[in-house]
Amino acid sequence: MPISHVDGYLRHIMADCAPDRSGAVADYIPELAAVDPDGYALSMCMHDGNTYSLGDVGVEFTIQSVSKPLTYAMALSRLDMAAVDAKIGVEPSGEAFNEISVDARRRPRNPMINAGAILAASLLLPPVRELPENAVDTVFGEVVEFYSACAGRRLTMDEQVYASESATGSRNRAIVYMLDSFGMVDTDPDAALDLYFRQCSIRVTADDLSVIGATIAGGGDNPRTGRRVISNEVAQRLLSVMTTCGMYDGAGDWVTSVGLPAKSGVGGGILAVLPGQLGIGVYSPRLDEHGNSVRGVDTCRHLSRDLGLHMFNVTRESRVSIRSVSTAAEFEVGTEWPEIDRSFLRTCRDRVRIYELQGDLTFAGAERALRRIENDIDDFDVAIIEISRVGVIDPVARTMLLSVRHTTATRGQRAMLVDPDGVVRASVAAHRDDFVVPDLNAPEQLRGLDPTLPHVHSTMVAAVRDAEEFQLERYRDNEV
Ligand code: DON
Repeated sequence: MPISHVDGYLRHIMADCAPDRSGAVADYIPELAAVDPDGYALSMCMHDGNTYSLGDVGVEFTIQSVSKPLTYAMALSRLDMAAVDAKIGVEPSGEAFNEISVDARRRPRNPMINAGAILAASLLLPPVRELPENAVDTVFGEVVEFYSACAGRRLTMDEQVYASESATGSRNRAIVYMLDSFGMVDTDPDAALDLYFRQCSIRVTADDLSVIGATIAGGGDNPRTGRRVISNEVAQRLLSVMTTCGMYDGAGDWVTSVGLPAKSGVGGGILAVLPGQLGIGVYSPRLDEHGNSVRGVDTCRHLSRDLGLHMFNVTRESRVSIRSVSTAAEFEVGTEWPEIDRSFLRTCRDRVRIYELQGDLTFAGAERALRRIENDIDDFDVAIIEISRVGVIDPVARTMLLSVRHTTATRGQRAMLVDPDGVVRASVAAHRDDFVVPDLNAPEQLRGLDPTLPHVHSTMVAAVRDAEEFQLERYRDNEV
């Protein structure tokens, strides 16, 4: 298996962001202050579950505020949506995450700030002031169950972080008592707070965050386990509030420059989602003044810009990228070859693979095509990529497709493109000045695709002839 090009892109982005040591790890409790400030991990989980994991993906950290959309999802799923909306607003607050403020109806402004998150946790508990003894344990068991179902693996709680959070949470205590004084808390306020502290102390990795992200991206289906864990309606709601409120007071700037619904936590994690396509998990514990991971934010900016992941990068069919995979068997061997060559060519028709792509190609679609070709790499001499049904191809997808030419060339194979409408050429012209993600292995001239390069054909028959010529050369070389 050759090194995946997508892996190379992600590595490149991490290398760009890694030198930034600004910000400081959270130090309001000793357990958070003690983490390695240089830890850095990036994980990307595609909608089919394929995951790219780089850096410290094995490091566990506490989920903290990234838990907020998940508990909100539980409340929305268990109660009537209208009942939740009566208690928690959906307006961006423009304030810090721990601001003590409510709207005119005395609701926390949204579920992503502490007030809203603590109230969402309260909604999971029985609506009585005198709770049975094990009520919080029981509900927390369900919370862990649900978070684990979203991550696709069994998650656990960090007892020490939990103990410290409870011991030092005066501000959160003030928030829940304020909400209680407004008549918004139907259960024991201390129990609601206890549940919130426990959920914040659940341990995750960057991989977990990307799988949770991909689950939300897929409308609630966990791509790892195939289980539906969130309804479509709730997933849509999460994406909405993560877009408008997920990054606190920087929400407007975030949507503009990154354009991915996201949630950050003071443990150093950021979860970001490209709806319908993929989930991202980043871990880097140094935080900015908003409580967001510095390198996490920067990594998301790079991902969005360099890989074209902004959610308003308008595209139609990025998920349906491979229309068919076939071989040259259905094409007659060229009559121009002598009979001896023709009989040889008939024996290796299946070593010419044809990948027919369709839709508007962006990062996610190109990733899928590339992965399929890389998986098949031992099975062909020539890969022909047919893009007559591709409407638009963005610069990242173009570079990714062209990277196949380099991968195959280094292995003595060949990749060809059938591009009857000159989509690649149009893409080069349209994006001449755009940043194009570098093909890390390819020589300079392959980076943008010079459309005059060989092996770009306007008909499939021409490509098949070129493939035959290549196979004959290979065959002659081997004979000598
Ligand atoms: O409520 C708190 O103070 C923490 N346990 C979680 C806050 C948090 O992660 C805010 N996000 N950046």
